[in-house]
Amino acid sequence: MTRIVTPVTRLLGIDLPIVQAGMSWASSSSALPLAVSNAGGLGVVAAGPMRLPDLDRTLAEMAAGTDRPWAVNLPLYRAGADEVIDLLLRHRPPVLIASQGGPRRYLGRFHDVGTRCLHVVAGVEHARKAADAGVDALVVVGAEAGGHPPPEMVTTQVLVRAVTRTVPEVPVITSGGIADGAGLAAMLALGAGAAQFGTRFLASTEATVHAAYKQAVLDAGVDATRTVGHGLGVIRALGNDFTARMLELEASGAEESLRRRIFQASTLKTAALHGDVAEGKVEAGQSAGLVDAVLPAAEIVARIVREYRTARANLPSITS
Ligand SMILES: Cc1cc2nc3c(=O)[nH]c(=O)nc-3n(C[C@H](O)[C@H](O)[C@H](O)COP(=O)(O)O)c2cc1C
Repeated sequence: MTRIVTPVTRLLGIDLPIVQAGMSWASSSSALPLAVSNAGGLGVVAAGPMRLPDLDRTLAEMAAGTDRPWAVNLPLYRAGADEVIDLLLRHRPPVLIASQGGPRRYLGRFHDVGTRCLHVVAGVEHARKAADAGVDALVVVGAEAGGHPPPEMVTTQVLVRAVTRTVPEVPVITSGGIADGAGLAAMLALGAGAAQFGTRFLASTEATVHAAYKQAVLDAGVDATRTVGHGLGVIRALGNDFTARMLELEASGAEESLRRRIFQASTLKTAALHGDVAEGKVEAGQSAGLVDAVLPAAEIVARIVREYRTARANLPSITS
C-alpha cells in the first residue's frame, strides 16, 4: 500500500492525507465513504440530512465494509443533534468531524469511547477556541469551498497559513478549492497535514447525487460558481436560475424576509436527489472547473497520488 505519512495520517491511522469531504446527500450513505476509506484515504459519512434509522444502518455498513478508519460529519445545528450524538456514541465511529457549533458540547463523550474529534473552522478565532477546547485536529475551510464557505471569504491559501501559525501544535486538514495532487502538494507545503476534497468526489461513481448534478459539475468552469445568501448562511453553488434570482434580490437591497424566503425555498435536496439543477442549490466549489470526469472514488484517490508525485518531482531544487 502506498503511504504518505503526515501528522494527520498518523493521528487518524490512514495511509494517505486524502479526506473525502462530508457532503449532504452525496455522502449520506456508505457507498462513497467506504470506497475512499478502502482506498487509503478517510471516507466521511454526512449525517446532516439523515434520518436516525438510515444513519444507524449506514454506520453498521461502514463497520462491516472496512477495517480502515472512517468518519462521520455532524453539523451540530441539525434538528435532533443530541439524539444523533447518542446514536453515534453507540457506534463509536473512529473519527468525528463536527461543524457549526462548539466542541465542548460533545468532545468529552467521544474521547471516552475512543473517537478522534475534528472540528470544522472557517476563521482564526474559531480555530483558537476549538484548539483550546481540546480537539484532536482542525478542518480549515476557505472561500473556494462548495457548500458553506467562510462569511468573510478568506481564501484557503491564506487561512491555512493563519491557522497553522496560530495553533502550530494542532494538525490541520485544509478544505476548499483542492481537486488534484498538485493542490494536495501545495497544501502540505503550506503546513497542512492533509487535504479535504469535496467537489472532486461529487463527480465520483459512488456519490449519491443525480446524474444531472454530476454533469453540471463537469460542465462548469472555474468561474461558474456564485455565492448567495449573504447574512443568511452564505453558500457557494453553481450559477443557475436560483442563484440569479438571489443575486438580483441582493443587488436591489430587497428586505431580509423576502431574501430568506427565496433562499429557503430552494434546496440542495431538490438538485441532488431530483436533478433539478436549474432551481435547486447545486452546491459545488470553484474547483468544479478542475474536474473533468466522473470516476470511481478509488481511481480518484490513485490519480491524486500520481499527480502529487509529479507535482513534487517538478518542483525546482535550490542551487547555489
Ligand atoms: C454538495 C455539498 C454538500 C456539502 N455538505 C456538507 C455537510 O453536510 N457538512 C459539512 O460540514 N460540509 C458540507 N459541505 C462542505 C464540504 O465538506 C467541503 O468543505 C467543501 O466541499 C470543500 O470544498 P471543495 O468542494 O472545493 O472541495 C458540502 C459541500 C458540497 C459541495
